[in-house]
Amino acid sequence: MSILICPHCQYSLQLTENRNYGCENNHQFDIAKEGYVNLLPVNQKKSKNPGDNDVMIAARRSFLEAGHYDSLVDEVVQLVCDQLNEKEEATLLDSGCGEGYYTNRIAEKLSVNNSQVFGTDISKYAVRLAAKRYKTPNFFVSSVFNLPVAAKSVDFIVSIFAPFQADEFQRVLAVNGKLLIVSPAENHLKEIAELVYDEFRPHEKTILDKVPEPFHQIAKKHCRFVLHLEGTNAILNLLKMTPYYWSASEKQVANFEIIQQMEVTCDFNITVFEVVV
Ligand SMILES: C[S@@+](CC[C@H](N)C(=O)[O-])C[C@H]1O[C@@H](n2cnc3c(N)ncnc32)[C@H](O)[C@@H]1O
Ligand SMILES: [Zn+2]
Repeated sequence: MSILICPHCQYSLQLTENRNYGCENNHQFDIAKEGYVNLLPVNQKKSKNPGDNDVMIAARRSFLEAGHYDSLVDEVVQLVCDQLNEKEEATLLDSGCGEGYYTNRIAEKLSVNNSQVFGTDISKYAVRLAAKRYKTPNFFVSSVFNLPVAAKSVDFIVSIFAPFQADEFQRVLAVNGKLLIVSPAENHLKEIAELVYDEFRPHEKTILDKVPEPFHQIAKKHCRFVLHLEGTNAILNLLKMTPYYWSASEKQVANFEIIQQMEVTCDFNITVFEVVV
């Protein structure tokens, strides 16, 4: 059964014979050749191409595929599995999934028990790339502020460095549903920031402070490691997948282009919440 609902009238979306999704009111959404569906209405777009652009998405794809964040990915997958322990078939949504690296790793792990994994992002570039490469999860374009997802249909949401919307997450989560958030901890990418700004300001817990009742924290992990990056490509990819790239001057980017190796601190908070009603 699909968890997807029509973004225009909120009726359930079903797969039709014409290889698209349709609702009772005959709103139709084509499935792209890569296998994703675009459920972001034009009136919910604040720009022509919202979300991360092709440069950021391509950089993140190369960086993640090189395995640089795999220690984090392993922790996330393990925590999801631990929390879903007794649940045979779970429905999981990766909200702000980017190019799908984490979504796929979670889907691979959960595929043994008929679970369904969905990934959504507002960036069409990201969702297209995700669907083209990874065939187990179901990908769709949408905004986290208006998820085209039925109420109480999701057992687990993961939100990794992505925007957070408490009301929407609460609406779509089932009773006792869980939410896992990955956010930057104090010293995340300190060495990159120091090359862009005069002074490094440690990250604050802003996202976690915004998680209101009825979400209750049930698990927390601090994940910290130092990356030894070799070669300009890896360093530039990391820069390009962060907001620092867009703050950096041409001269600063040129400085990054000649760095051959760099040690970078990666510092994350992984926090799991449960909806208690
Ligand atoms: C830092 S990236 C993280 C992507 C992925 N979770 C990862 O860690 O590889 C943040 C993502 O949030 C997406 N995003 C930004 N605003 C959004 C919104 N309103 N709804 C859904 N996704 C959004 C961006 O397009 C981008 O892919
Ligand atoms: Zn409709």
